[in-house]
Amino acid sequence: MEVLEAINTRRSIRKFLDQPVEPEKLRTVLEAARMAPSWSNLQCWRFVVVQDPATRATLSDLSFVESFFAAYGFSKNPAQKAIAAAPVVIVACADPARSGTMGGQHYYLADLGIATQNLMLAAHAAGLGTVFVGVFDEEKVRDALGIPANIRVVGLFPLGYPLEEKKTGPPRKPLDEIVFHEKWK
Ligand SMILES: Cc1cc2nc3c(=O)[nH]c(=O)nc-3n(C[C@H](O)[C@H](O)[C@H](O)COP(=O)(O)O)c2cc1C
Repeated sequence: MEVLEAINTRRSIRKFLDQPVEPEKLRTVLEAARMAPSWSNLQCWRFVVVQDPATRATLSDLSFVESFFAAYGFSKNPAQKAIAAAPVVIVACADPARSGTMGGQHYYLADLGIATQNLMLAAHAAGLGTVFVGVFDEEKVRDALGIPANIRVVGLFPLGYPLEEKKTGPPRKPLDEIVFHEKWK
């Protein structure tokens, strides 16, 4: 699949077939994340691959943060079931000490954003689906997976064969709303 085709046709997938992901496809997805650019090439990312159904169920429970969703008017995390249903959940973590901070901006989040977009595009190109789940109880996820306190958990990525086929996603803002030429205006 061409890069632009992958970018334009990738969708957040929240329903999965009851079908395992082949180890070589899982490796392809992780390799794509590994190849991402990063601050000073420090590669602050770390990934925990969870396949155990009981652990996936725990992560699913932890993706509902009542106080957060109530504030946004949601009654649940739309991806909660996906985390238990997908055969694999990739937990994307960062070691902030292995990235940069500049003018108050913490670039570990940029590093992880790029790596996980690679991950999502590679999954899509391999016929798999995933979704970036950014809302979860970080401290409890750390506890459940034995992740050290100095490591940030940035996202959960349920991964599997899609049960749903999504041709279009939520609309994007038009370019003339988000691009300025020469000066901000
Ligand atoms: C940083 C980040 C956090 C997200 N967190 C969640 C989440 O907790 N639950 C969920 O269902 N989707 C989550 N999403 C998915 C977005 O809702 C989705 O990407 C967006 O609506 C656009 O849809 P598309 O991915 O199909 O193009 C998240 C996406 C990003 C980039």
